[in-house]
Amino acid sequence: MRRAIYPGSFDPITNGHLDIIDRATMIFDELIIAITSSTSKKGMFSLDERLSMIESIVEDNKKIKVIIFEGLLIDFAKNYQSSIIIRGLRVLSDFEYEFKMALMNRSLDSNINTLFMMPHEKYTHISSSLVKEVTLLGGNVSQYVPQIVQNKLLQKVKNN
Ligand code: COA
Repeated sequence: MRRAIYPGSFDPITNGHLDIIDRATMIFDELIIAITSSTSKKGMFSLDERLSMIESIVEDNKKIKVIIFEGLLIDFAKNYQSSIIIRGLRVLSDFEYEFKMALMNRSLDSNINTLFMMPHEKYTHISSSLVKEVTLLGGNVSQYVPQIVQNKLLQKVKNN
């Protein structure tokens, strides 16, 4: 059983993340989408809200599990008996951050390997923060997120 972990803050999940998820499930028997809070970013959605959005989007793909975690990613990977971390690389500016994170994870646990995948080029310019900002300012993000995420974003804007 080849199992990989795709970690991230997913606040919220975008079509760029889903593109990576599709590609990873072509290679692995099981993919765990591991949601965690960012220490540096203030979230819009609670971890439970992110989990329930992602679960409803990927429910038809039986290879995928969605799990919230706290603490170090390498500990989560060990608990779930996986040594592969999937990360998306969109543009050159992602590289330095990802490179450091991959090397730090590998130096903390030499069994861990990070596998980088490139999303479709139509998603290279999107990020969760940009999708939130565009929605907050009245723009349409329907080409960047699934319908359920767009609805939740609009609800957040309305409630604030
Ligand atoms: N398509 C579109 N956007 C993408 C994307 C893709 N394929 N891949 C990443 N992004 C965007 C995200 O939306 C996010 O945007 P934002 O900054 O506007 O929110 C940004 O790129 C960062 O991506 P994300 O995957 O969410 O990374 P992160 O920096 O939030 O998460 C963790 C990094 C969670 C993997 C890392 O902090 C971690 O492992 N934390 C656990 C604690 C730990 O072990 N720390 C030590 C690590 S060495």
